[in-house]
Amino acid sequence: MQWTIRTAPQPSEILPLLVVPVFMGDKALKDYPVVSDDFDAKFGKTQLLYTDPAMGAARVLLVGLGERKAFSIIRLQRALGIATIAAQSKKLTTFGILMHEAFFKKCKPLVLGEHIARAVKGAAYSYDAYKSNEERHVAAIEAVTLLQVPAVRRTAIERGLVAGTSIANAITLVRDLGNTPPMIMTPTKLAEAAMDVASEYPKTVKCEVMDREQMLELGMGGVLGVAAGSAEPPKFIVMEYNNTPKAGAPIVLVGKGITFDSGGISIKPADKMDEMKFDMLGGATVIGTIAAVAALQLRVRVIGLIPATENLPGGSAYRPGDILRTMSGKTIEVLNTDAEGRIILADALSYAAKLKPRMCVDLATLTGACVVALGTERAGLFSQDTKVTNLIEAAAAYSGDQVWRMPLGEEYSEAIVSEIADVKNISGRDGSSSAAAAFLAEFVDYPWAHLDIAGTAWNMKSKPWLRAGATGHGVHLMVEFLRLV
Ligand code: BES
Ligand code: ZN
Ligand code: ZN
Repeated sequence: MQWTIRTAPQPSEILPLLVVPVFMGDKALKDYPVVSDDFDAKFGKTQLLYTDPAMGAARVLLVGLGERKAFSIIRLQRALGIATIAAQSKKLTTFGILMHEAFFKKCKPLVLGEHIARAVKGAAYSYDAYKSNEERHVAAIEAVTLLQVPAVRRTAIERGLVAGTSIANAITLVRDLGNTPPMIMTPTKLAEAAMDVASEYPKTVKCEVMDREQMLELGMGGVLGVAAGSAEPPKFIVMEYNNTPKAGAPIVLVGKGITFDSGGISIKPADKMDEMKFDMLGGATVIGTIAAVAALQLRVRVIGLIPATENLPGGSAYRPGDILRTMSGKTIEVLNTDAEGRIILADALSYAAKLKPRMCVDLATLTGACVVALGTERAGLFSQDTKVTNLIEAAAAYSGDQVWRMPLGEEYSEAIVSEIADVKNISGRDGSSSAAAAFLAEFVDYPWAHLDIAGTAWNMKSKPWLRAGATGHGVHLMVEFLRLV
């Protein structure tokens, strides 16, 4: 995707489409006198106009920004996403965006550039790999021109576009990994994706993949227990990005990598089981985040840990009633084989403890209850560490990847005490997202936050600014978190 920045109208240029964002109450624009008086500019509303090419564009798309006072980074991302998808639906691969002065008031030009690249590339994405009829493939956006950019903002916007492109590429990677059918996206394949990132950035990224034997040596009875029913070999992926002179205490990111969650012996209902191919998106987000920080060359040391396995029933599968011994030595009474995420994360969080992390964040599509509580736009944030919490909330405000605080506390920790082992893997239905988080907390002795991304990691229905499938929510969030630490 080619970006061009124009500080003044280019008389010789006729764009196939000019996107004109409009607030409610905006008057007609000086260089582009499109009448917007009868366009109510409600947020997300669009109106396509066929115009006189003499004004520099063959078509104009008005995009409603809603009320000026309600304008936000999220509205900016969505408005540009809506415009991008509208362009694609007209099979237009090139367009211009008239940069509203309010964009520059909302954020610094560097940040603006980053959000524009993320929004346009994110909206343009479509997973078409398995559609044989090319007619059904979405047209790739080739070139976007930003118009009426004040000359003094130009370089900063350009730098922002470069950074935003790196982030958008990482988001694309995560979405591709998630959308790939589970017969292909096995633990082995996920590990290959992590290795590919390391080969792309050989100077800063390393990747090691542990197999069953190595996990056995480390005593990872949790991952191995969950993996027992699958013919696909489990993998424990360790990635390291280091771009600091000294190898100080790392930031550790942990991601749930269940490449298919059937529920195991406690099998899930058939309805929606297909969605459980997305149960590796925590792990994919960690891989994507490391790819993004490597492209951005951030001055940090990050270690990514991804326990990866399928969760399937079968003659060798783990059972309700089994007791698993984890790497920490703590034992888990399995009461439901569908609460497998916390079991594999227990080993990963114990592995993290050996790395003495400065901070650790895990990302996991952990509980259906979190989707019930928060819906699909906000990830659950569970932490008792003020510093990590503040950093994540700041990163969420910056990136537009929203989070919402959820509680940890002794009532949840009590709910997962087992009668015959150290912990049990389910409590009751009540407060079960917090009980799952409290379970994870049993394996943590360092500053830590848990992000339950069950609701945000994928959508089953397309939104006007984002097509259905994996969303990549969490990549921009983690990149900004790593910029702030
Ligand atoms: N991967 C699921 C969580 C999930 C369910 C995410 C639906 C997104 C949509 C997880 O492994 C799971 O099955 N959790 C169970 C836990 C229960 C058995 C205590 C759940 O949430 O129902
Ligand atoms: Zn499950
Ligand atoms: Zn799961």
